[in-house]
Amino acid sequence: MTAVGIDAIEIWTGKLKLDLAETFAPAKGEAPEKYTKGLGLEASSFPDTYEDIVTMGANAAKRLMDRKGLSPDDIGRIDVATESAFDNSKPVSTYIAGCLEEVYDGDFHHANKGERKFACVAGTQSIDDAYNWIKAGRHRGRSALVIATDTALYARGDPGEATQGAGAVAMLVSEDPSVVELSTHQGYGSADETDFLKPNQQFPSVDGKRSVQVYLARMREALTDFESVAGRIHSDDYAYFPFHTPFPGMVRKAALLGFRHMTRDTEIEDELATEIGRQPREEEYEDWEAYEDAIRSYMDALKETDTYNDWYARAIDPTLTLARRVGNWYTGSVHVARASALKTAAETGRALSGEKLLVGSYGSGAQAEIHSETIMDGWREEVEAFDIDEQLARRYDLSFEEYGRVHDAHNHEKERELEEFTVPSGEFVFTGWGRMNERK
Ligand code: HMG
Repeated sequence: MTAVGIDAIEIWTGKLKLDLAETFAPAKGEAPEKYTKGLGLEASSFPDTYEDIVTMGANAAKRLMDRKGLSPDDIGRIDVATESAFDNSKPVSTYIAGCLEEVYDGDFHHANKGERKFACVAGTQSIDDAYNWIKAGRHRGRSALVIATDTALYARGDPGEATQGAGAVAMLVSEDPSVVELSTHQGYGSADETDFLKPNQQFPSVDGKRSVQVYLARMREALTDFESVAGRIHSDDYAYFPFHTPFPGMVRKAALLGFRHMTRDTEIEDELATEIGRQPREEEYEDWEAYEDAIRSYMDALKETDTYNDWYARAIDPTLTLARRVGNWYTGSVHVARASALKTAAETGRALSGEKLLVGSYGSGAQAEIHSETIMDGWREEVEAFDIDEQLARRYDLSFEEYGRVHDAHNHEKERELEEFTVPSGEFVFTGWGRMNERK
């Protein structure tokens, strides 16, 4: 069977930066450590006023197509995953295809285009759709362009304000992929939830604390469902665990739960027993509350052990290095986590071909999906082509007052001021709602 998976990845960050410790924390009267240590974030990316989900997505896609030497004829499908769409009819993929047709010979007239929505999990769902399309043999030898693009804004003053971010990840899904092969092993945890939603509104209504619990509950269900397909998983089966990262502190919570689950009834639990005791078993407790207290104490002890911290440093922390600097990109977030892990591996000379990733995607509303991927021989060359470090270094560092103006500029209910903080160069720029984006 031909391998199908991700052949290439390109990342485009919004060109502005809000520093959480230096700029946001003092303005909010909060300790910088709340953001840097508590949430695990250093900064958020924002789009300049001439950027939006279309330009960021089109710019990422153009870089990808140029680097891979692709023309529109090579693409049979364009799916855009976003929860920041501004058009309730025309999918964002048509706007992006319009941009790309301005600069390439040929067109996408015979490509199937769509827009996928299920909060942040939609990026992974679009990859699943592309995989199924290729596996079904409907692709005529062509590849699918999947673009996850979002401007993740919260209302000013919302507790979620510290976790904002903006950027796009373009991915090419093909036969014989260079980066990762997707597997048929998947697990889901899905339920009707109302902790984070945007019914006819741009900024989300959020019950932040509850959203953290819902994330953990759905991920736990997805893991159990995944194991029912793939069999019991262990902490050393996977090189990295890229998870949806609304903020790194969220992944820290999920990782601790996951590690406890994966090490139960294993040699690792036996080894840890001398240090912190065995994991509590439900049947040993008279009531649920006592059992939960015991679990909490076990987890508090577990997170102080070298065994856990070594695994975390090896398998989780490398997935968070980009998220720390850019914030939540919603649909792109888990794909930033994968890219971040592979980039760290390339920088540290780690050999990865043939190793596996356990990818945990999540979207509010709510659905978690866990699937496995196998790293392919061409991964290093693809990842070394990233220019994300240069992009991050070039970001304009906003003052708090400028941040307010940028937030207003992207607020659909306000008049859009096209005051620019950076200078566009050889890229698509926003020229007005519903109009063709131009290239400057
Ligand atoms: P908050 O109330 O501002 O913060 O909101 P907090 O008081 O809970 O503090 C955050 C952490 O910092 C805590 O750590 C504090 O202890 C710590 P924890 O106890 O949780 O481990 N802290 C400090 N640490 C060191 N030094 C200090 C200090 N002060 C405090 N001085 C909240 C936090 C997450 C609720 C907020 O940011 C929020 O509402 N975020 C938006 C919602 C969100 O991201 N939810 C995540 C799960 S849902 C999801 O991932 C889906 C999503 O991406 C959307 C989609 O799918 O479309 C959001």
